[in-house]
Amino acid sequence: MGSAVGLGNIWKFPALTGANGGAGFLLIYLLATLLVGLPVMIAELTLGRHARANPIRALRMLAPPGQPWWLVGVIGMLAAFLIMAFYSEVVAWVFVYVWKSLEGSALSSDPAVTEAAFAAMVGNPWVSLVSQWLVLLLIGGILVKGVAGGIEAVTKRLMPLLFLLLAGLCVFSLTLDEAAAGLAFLFKPDFSKVDAAVVLTAVGLAFFKMSIGMGTMMTYGSYFRSEQNIPLTAGRVMVADLAVSLLAGIAIFPAVFTFGFEPTAGPSLVFITLPAVFAQLPFGQGLMLVFFILTSIAAIGAMLSLLEVPVLVLTERLGLPRPLAIGVCVLAVAVPGAGCALSGSVLAGVRVAGLTFFDLMDFVSSNLLLPVGGILIALFAGYVWGRAAFTRAVSNGGTLRNEGLAVVVLVLLRYVSPLLIGVVMLNGLGII
Ligand code: PFF
Repeated sequence: MGSAVGLGNIWKFPALTGANGGAGFLLIYLLATLLVGLPVMIAELTLGRHARANPIRALRMLAPPGQPWWLVGVIGMLAAFLIMAFYSEVVAWVFVYVWKSLEGSALSSDPAVTEAAFAAMVGNPWVSLVSQWLVLLLIGGILVKGVAGGIEAVTKRLMPLLFLLLAGLCVFSLTLDEAAAGLAFLFKPDFSKVDAAVVLTAVGLAFFKMSIGMGTMMTYGSYFRSEQNIPLTAGRVMVADLAVSLLAGIAIFPAVFTFGFEPTAGPSLVFITLPAVFAQLPFGQGLMLVFFILTSIAAIGAMLSLLEVPVLVLTERLGLPRPLAIGVCVLAVAVPGAGCALSGSVLAGVRVAGLTFFDLMDFVSSNLLLPVGGILIALFAGYVWGRAAFTRAVSNGGTLRNEGLAVVVLVLLRYVSPLLIGVVMLNGLGII
């Protein structure tokens, strides 16, 4: 849950739901989560726990000799770097907003003020770069000190608080004048805005939010206890992840319509609308501070899991000492990271296929690498590892009565997930 719940819920989910037309997108996203996301998460956790190794080694161990399934782990590592490049910049924005909350500067229900505050931040190359470096140093430092477990324990305690704060914000948002319009946008499907590219984005979001398709959950599975009930755990993570996203959506969209924001504002949506909500609340400045602190803690939990994937590979495969492996990875993120940080300022004009560097990293990782990784993991678990081994592992060697469930998950992994993702990808990319 520490890996899954993060900025994907609070920042990306509202931004994409807004930009892709609301409820129609949400419905497709929900289907993708249930039919594809959940089975792939179960497969990853089970494979990881069975092999008790990093994804590359796990796939090498479990595949028949000579078959290069370990390349899926390599694709996953690449995805981790691309995601970290832009994710670390959004964490940096959250840090800047912690600061802005202390100053009280972005707090206003005038869209012009909150939009200007966000634009000034992303338009300032130094603020964007230096805050990202601070994030990378902090995450690297936490991993070097080996206190990631401690941070995760803190995250676990504070997550319910974030949940409560979001729930409170929802209740308040529902009292706003245009709450009905916000809810209709979020829950009344209008499929006229749904095309193949929108469906691919929804599938990509499901993968991104559940941290699957790249080996993160395999890595975490390798730390699971043998008696852990994996389908139950995966189900809980999915529900919690969905709940946090929906709460963020319900807190944001009524405000979008009441204060006159554009639902399609994209990456700036959370940062410009929530300060408007806080501005209306008693103790708004304090609450905004608490919100951005809690959000940064959730984001750090997700970042730690992202960095852990390549670090584990470098230490296990190349035998690098852990601090060195962490240093190498942090530097390797900082390079594409700088491209993302500067996408709002000096590199704003540099575009590939119409996308800024930031959007390109996001598109390639979420809409290409994660779904491809997801198909391959589904095929591997479904066909290569095979029915008997999968069923035994999911039922903890027969101590859990998960056999029936394993059959359902296997059907999804063998037929539904690869086919759905494959068709959606080819369609979304305009190939068929
Ligand atoms: N699931 C995280 C979020 O929603 O914020 C992002 C993420 C973390 C994606 C770890 C992938 C990953 F491996």
